[in-house]
Amino acid sequence: QTELSLRPTTLSQYIGQDKIKQEVSVYIQAAKDRQEPLDHVLLYGPPGLGKTTLAGVIANEMGVTFKTTSGPAIEKPGDLVALLNELQPGAILFIDEIHRLPKNVEEILYSAMEDFYIDIIVGQDATAHPVHFPLPPFTLVGATTRAGLLSSPLRARFGIVEHMKYYTDSELAQVVLRSAEVFDSQIDPLGAAEIARRSRGTPRVANRLLKRVRDFAQVAQKKSIDEEIVQYALKLLQVDQQGLDETDRKLLRTMIELYGGGPVGLSTIAANIGEETDTVADMIEPYLMQSGFIKRTARGRMVTPAGYEHLGLRPNEKKN
Ligand code: ADE
Repeated sequence: QTELSLRPTTLSQYIGQDKIKQEVSVYIQAAKDRQEPLDHVLLYGPPGLGKTTLAGVIANEMGVTFKTTSGPAIEKPGDLVALLNELQPGAILFIDEIHRLPKNVEEILYSAMEDFYIDIIVGQDATAHPVHFPLPPFTLVGATTRAGLLSSPLRARFGIVEHMKYYTDSELAQVVLRSAEVFDSQIDPLGAAEIARRSRGTPRVANRLLKRVRDFAQVAQKKSIDEEIVQYALKLLQVDQQGLDETDRKLLRTMIELYGGGPVGLSTIAANIGEETDTVADMIEPYLMQSGFIKRTARGRMVTPAGYEHLGLRPNEKKN
């Protein structure tokens, strides 16, 4: 098929995560040769790096069906039994936010993963009795932001564990060029490079910024998305030179102005900027940490000198 989709469907179309692609392609080939389902895969890393996309690519490369769900969506053991029971043999079941599975659901997943059966209790009180359900063989692909959020019995049942990393600017520029082609939009290499540089290592952010910049370019009647329109649009969107947005800067400013740059606890920071602690931990803090603007210490988070400098402040300038 010639039709391009924003999500790649093969490993060769998938940009970045080279080490993972290299390993996974071997496991896929070996499993196919043996005519067995692929071993269960755990993908962990910050949101927006393409975990769901990669799971879909793996299903496509294995030539099996792909079913997606999420931890919070599976509320009770019966939901999981129904899901697993409907799978075609060898299918891939993708569970996003797998760390948020209810405990009693997680527990029945153990035997399902290990030996493809489930024992559940059916009925209540006097009529309660155990039922043994054999399941079609399947591959579970689980995704989570931090591997440490999983209980160790669950983590131990994944034969393949892969850490998704932030993309380099050059990989992100390739993602932007590819997406522009899918959108049928002209873009200059310098325009793509500038969007890449400001996308905090994250394809989802790069694709979102590309869509917005494309709107600006269209209304300004630009034939091509050039560096100038990228600069203009991102200034209006308040995405700064390092790709930080309003919320990122608010977090840094709050730590400096209210807590002298730290150390301060994560939940305290979250409360002060009006975000959930988990949102700060999973979505905001990792990139600030990766960029070297904040660091983790035994007593809490601290703004680094680079963090101060980014806001045009000095570490010893305490605000009165
Ligand atoms: N779109 C989003 N993530 C991508 C990736 N890793 N490769 C290609 N296209 C993408």
